[in-house]
Amino acid sequence: MNDKIALVTGAESGIGAACAAALATAGFDVAVLYFKDAEAAGKTAAVVTGAGRRSVTVQADVSDETAVEAAFSQVNTALGLPTVLVNSAGLNQSGVSVADMSTAQWLRLLGSDLTGPFLTSRRLVQDLRKAARPGRIINISSIHAHDVRAGAADYCAAKGGLKNLTETMALECASLGITVNAIAPGMILTPMNARAVADPAYRKSLEADVPLGRAGRPEEVASLAVYLASPAADYITGATLTIDGGLSLLLAEGA
Ligand SMILES: NC(=O)c1ccc[n+]([C@@H]2O[C@H](COP(=O)([O-])OP(=O)(O)OC[C@H]3O[C@@H](n4cnc5c(N)ncnc54)[C@H](O)[C@@H]3O)[C@@H](O)[C@H]2O)c1
Repeated sequence: MNDKIALVTGAESGIGAACAAALATAGFDVAVLYFKDAEAAGKTAAVVTGAGRRSVTVQADVSDETAVEAAFSQVNTALGLPTVLVNSAGLNQSGVSVADMSTAQWLRLLGSDLTGPFLTSRRLVQDLRKAARPGRIINISSIHAHDVRAGAADYCAAKGGLKNLTETMALECASLGITVNAIAPGMILTPMNARAVADPAYRKSLEADVPLGRAGRPEEVASLAVYLASPAADYITGATLTIDGGLSLLLAEGA
């Protein structure tokens, strides 16, 4: 029985789907947690099985405690105990300033991008602690965890909170042999950046701001997740690995 089992949230799309595929290539069976698009989740699972690994698709709203608990139980039954968790599920910023933001919008984003990783990570740590197994938690954060932008208070607050959740859990989980790290992408071409994907002129205008001159690909983020899940990253915990083509280095330029 393969004991390399990973659970990826948001695995029906973008960075999560790329992480699922890359982890499968690295020898992991992968549980594909999805929100709304069962067909897309099935495609991710087919990539995993195409790489010769087992997969299961499980629907869950990561902000819903009952749904997360049920999803983990389903995964444990179908594949066994995951030792790697990638928290990729998330929503994009609202583009609304705080003065005009509804409470529902605020709570929705904190739910998917912060409470979600809290609920999934808590369950993983409980399961691993009970089984006395080491593990890896990899949170997909954002450069907006530290570099804020107007109209994104919901997103920036959630990702800033995720950074502190990552670091706090790294301390709490170290003695359990569980590392907790984050990846902070800049502009990555996924459905979250639908306009940049579909409109080359718009994309080029954004890419002009990136020192490396282009947007990133989800597969490039996934490579970092595979690295953090590998023995090569045994001594890394509480870290945030930035992958943004140098974008976040530019904030003080010209001012
Ligand atoms: N694309 C980028 O440029 C970029 C940059 C920085 C950070 N990120 C982060 O990367 C992660 C993945 O984003 P992506 O670019 O792959 O976007 P995406 O929209 O392709 O994928 C996000 C997935 O999360 C799912 N999701 C949203 N809310 C959910 C919920 N409550 N429960 C379960 N699933 C839910 C969506 O259905 C979607 O499938 C997100 O956390 C995002 O904030 C993305």
